[in-house]
Amino acid sequence: MASRRGSTSVILPSGQTLPSYTRSSEDDDGLPHATKKKMADHLRKYEALFTLTPQRMRIVVEAFKESLELGLAKHGQVVPMIPTYVFGWPTGQETGSYLAVDLGGTNLRVCLVTLQGDGKFEITQSKYRLTEEQKQEDGQILFDFCAECLKAFIDSNIESGVIEKDQVLPLGFTFSYPCAQERIDHGVLIRWTKGFGSPNTEGHDVVAMFRKSLAKHSVPAEVVALTCDTTGTLIASHYVNPKTRIACIFGTGCNAAYMERAGDIPKIQELGIDPNAEIAINCEWGAFDSFEHENLPRTKYDIIIDETSNKPGEQAFEKLISGRYLGEILRLIICELIDEGVLFLGQNTYKVEIAYSFDTAFLSLMESDPTDELLMIIGIFSHFFALETTLAERQFFRALAKLVARRAARLSACGIAAIVSKMNYLEDGCAVGADGSLYNKYPGFAERIHEGLQDIFGEKGKTIVTYHAEDGSGIGSAIVAAMTKARRDAGLYPTL
Ligand code: BGC
Repeated sequence: MASRRGSTSVILPSGQTLPSYTRSSEDDDGLPHATKKKMADHLRKYEALFTLTPQRMRIVVEAFKESLELGLAKHGQVVPMIPTYVFGWPTGQETGSYLAVDLGGTNLRVCLVTLQGDGKFEITQSKYRLTEEQKQEDGQILFDFCAECLKAFIDSNIESGVIEKDQVLPLGFTFSYPCAQERIDHGVLIRWTKGFGSPNTEGHDVVAMFRKSLAKHSVPAEVVALTCDTTGTLIASHYVNPKTRIACIFGTGCNAAYMERAGDIPKIQELGIDPNAEIAINCEWGAFDSFEHENLPRTKYDIIIDETSNKPGEQAFEKLISGRYLGEILRLIICELIDEGVLFLGQNTYKVEIAYSFDTAFLSLMESDPTDELLMIIGIFSHFFALETTLAERQFFRALAKLVARRAARLSACGIAAIVSKMNYLEDGCAVGADGSLYNKYPGFAERIHEGLQDIFGEKGKTIVTYHAEDGSGIGSAIVAAMTKARRDAGLYPTL
């Protein structure tokens, strides 16, 4: 056994306390470990697989741009480029109280948002963690759960006098999965993403389903608008920072939204919208390169993730980037090296062999470990996987985490660059509001995106700056509801 000299503890993002230990010597645990040189040789192999050159990035950007154009031209394309019927930017003067329900990839959130005008707001909210079982339950049961949580939230706000009894509040529903929309309070689910698989939902109008659940539980709320987290983020970010032109989410899933001229969306020409009107487009870019897999540099680990997922072939871009998958990519590499007899000889590795047991938050902790001995990494492997590691192995794991996360950030830069280049935003520059656990919590993710943008565009890439966005699924959804109410009251495209 390793001789231990002292201990520290670290608080994980989940709130769990992780004990970690210092050792007196590196290779004194009596177990066979790979040599430093051997680990360095392996690292070189993975570097070659996961490194994206600027030239390769520019090729991806060009293909991405073509997919965006195609999505605007025709219905039913791989990247669906969904017109959201959110017309133009908020004025910042939107006011009133709105409910927001956000069915995200990890949590269900219910909010009460009071817009006070001048870009100001107040928000109260409750969060409920979704279990893996709930994500596979019949769709109507899932929406019933949303309605029940909302009812409990409203009741407690009535009790505390924040909401008046008998008041029916307008509601913005943030449903962050690709939906084909015919109008703002309608959306037919194209496909579940992020591991959801609830039956009887794909191909159905999720607003109608949610309204049914609201009626069943007598919830005093009227769904005014269906939005995606990216569209909400675009609008909320612009509400507080009018330089914003693009919004992105890098979380459990990934996606982007931006504002397009109606005249440049050939597939909705028959709606008779003023060609100069602006409409927010929910790109659903996570689907880029799905099915054909012609443009993205997939490794064999990416292919395993895809083929063993509940949606093989789909969300090809998202599977290389989002928080749901990065930990799994690293875990698959570790398992490969276990199989090859390189790592953990003589140790029981069953825990790390469980699919999705390696959380993306571990990569983040590994990269931010400030100690020379990499104590955090000792803690992760010993506490969660009952595995002893040497310093050389820990340095290797940290370097691997960096490779996987850096590739994700650089591919994210390719997506942003495709929109920037399509919309000619490079000359004047633009702000990109970004949100999601990866963007907010992964050390260096934003810097790596910026570095990627400069690799693609050269010096000019510096004019494209991402920043931590305003809460799109809560505040953004409420602003969209307010904008929709105002638009319809003014009789502008009242049926859209
Ligand atoms: C969904 C998008 C969403 C993104 C980020 C993707 O899986 O398809 O609608 O915006 O995740 O949450």
